[in-house]
Amino acid sequence: MEALKDVRILDMTHVQAGPTCSQLLAWMGADVIKLEPPHGDATRGQLRDIPNADSLYFTMLNCNKRSITVNMKSPEGKQVFADLVKKCDIIMENFGPGVLDRLGFTWEKIHEINPRIVMGSIKGFGSSGPYADFKAYENVAQAMGGAMSTTGVPDGPPFVTGAQIGDSGTGLHLAIGLLAALHQRNRTGKGQYVEVAMMDGVMNLCRVKWRDHQRLTRGPLAEYSVPTEGLKATPRAGNDSGGGQLGNAIKCKPGGPDDYIYVVVQEAVWEALANRIGPELGMPGLAQDPRFATIGERRKNQNEMWALITRFAANYTKREFMAILNPLDVPCGPIMSTEDLANDEHVRGREMYVELDHPQRGKWWNVGMPIKLSDSPTKIERSPLLGEHTEEILKEVLGYSGERIEKLRSAGAFSATPKKTA
Ligand SMILES: CC(C)(COP(=O)(O)OP(=O)(O)OC[C@H]1O[C@@H](n2cnc3c(N)ncnc32)[C@H](O)[C@@H]1OP(=O)(O)O)[C@@H](O)C(=O)NCCC(=O)NCCS
Repeated sequence: MEALKDVRILDMTHVQAGPTCSQLLAWMGADVIKLEPPHGDATRGQLRDIPNADSLYFTMLNCNKRSITVNMKSPEGKQVFADLVKKCDIIMENFGPGVLDRLGFTWEKIHEINPRIVMGSIKGFGSSGPYADFKAYENVAQAMGGAMSTTGVPDGPPFVTGAQIGDSGTGLHLAIGLLAALHQRNRTGKGQYVEVAMMDGVMNLCRVKWRDHQRLTRGPLAEYSVPTEGLKATPRAGNDSGGGQLGNAIKCKPGGPDDYIYVVVQEAVWEALANRIGPELGMPGLAQDPRFATIGERRKNQNEMWALITRFAANYTKREFMAILNPLDVPCGPIMSTEDLANDEHVRGREMYVELDHPQRGKWWNVGMPIKLSDSPTKIERSPLLGEHTEEILKEVLGYSGERIEKLRSAGAFSATPKKTA
């Protein structure tokens, strides 16, 4: 937790896209002050599994942060906010369009209060262009960034992917932008505004679909398992590998919903693979079969090739098939369910599923830190309760006296309504 030790972040983000970014920065050692409205980040109460406890939606995205509640709609709350801006290196938000401006804090105003501060904003579509005024959630971004139109099968509807490329993907983009801006600030003394639109982030993550979009102008795409003749847009292509090598999800024994293994028939491994599966299929000469002898032929006849591999796999579980393929150097991976992953030795060993405690909910699990810094290991700590650190932050970061805090509290700086005085 040494890498960002001296960096203080005023984190106004909510729901998923922003908090996933600030959690990563906290895991790299930043002091993340989560500034919440008096009723808290809405996800605290969303999809609750335990009555009155912060939901897993919240706890899984807000670890290692401190929480302060500030009513930004009260003049006293605005003053506390402005004081915090002066003391932070980064401020970040992912409100709907214009929210912070309406609260009186445009980027220009924030920059004036603290010229050194870097500001990060996530918006659905950015601050310019015809879509700038629209709100967005994960699947809206997946729909508009090209992910949905390219996911699924041609005859079926567009599908969302299970990975949160719209929210968490955008959070990753923002983290990179913030760290770059901080690096520049450390050189120049001047902060800047970093904006990431969810739609842009999804487009970036769909980059290879744009490769194919342009290749279509030159003719059909030979490696696709679905027809591409005459198409103007990259189609949905099921479980095609999407790269230069052929790949597919192959059904295994005993045929349950996740009993599949993804197999890449890399050019270099075909002969070894054919020699291993051929004899069991009654086709000892499979490696020499002209239908599959070259990558060009395998592309053309890939559906036949997948049918043969599937026939072989019917006698093996996904793990058994993996054990057959690994020594042949065939890139492959069993389709892991969340249950498989939760119990996986490799996952546990890499601290990618970690047990935590929480005063309201007891034991729970979080997905760990995927970025491993050799000299700045992460120690994951539970998410804060709503306003848990309000007083601590006011005293330690802003140097407010107890008397001043009480005055502000009575005036309603930290609550939805001013505190009633007797
Ligand atoms: C996610 C989203 C759709 C949620 O919409 P929403 O619940 O209506 O929330 P908004 O961000 O638009 O508005 C937040 C409100 O809380 C108020 N608020 C926020 N912090 C506050 C505080 N500390 N004190 C008082 N009020 C506060 C804002 O002033 C705003 O009120 P207003 O509507 O009167 O201006 C929207 O925030 C959005 O589009 N964000 C950008 C894209 C994004 O990140 N989406 C992914 C989320 S995972």
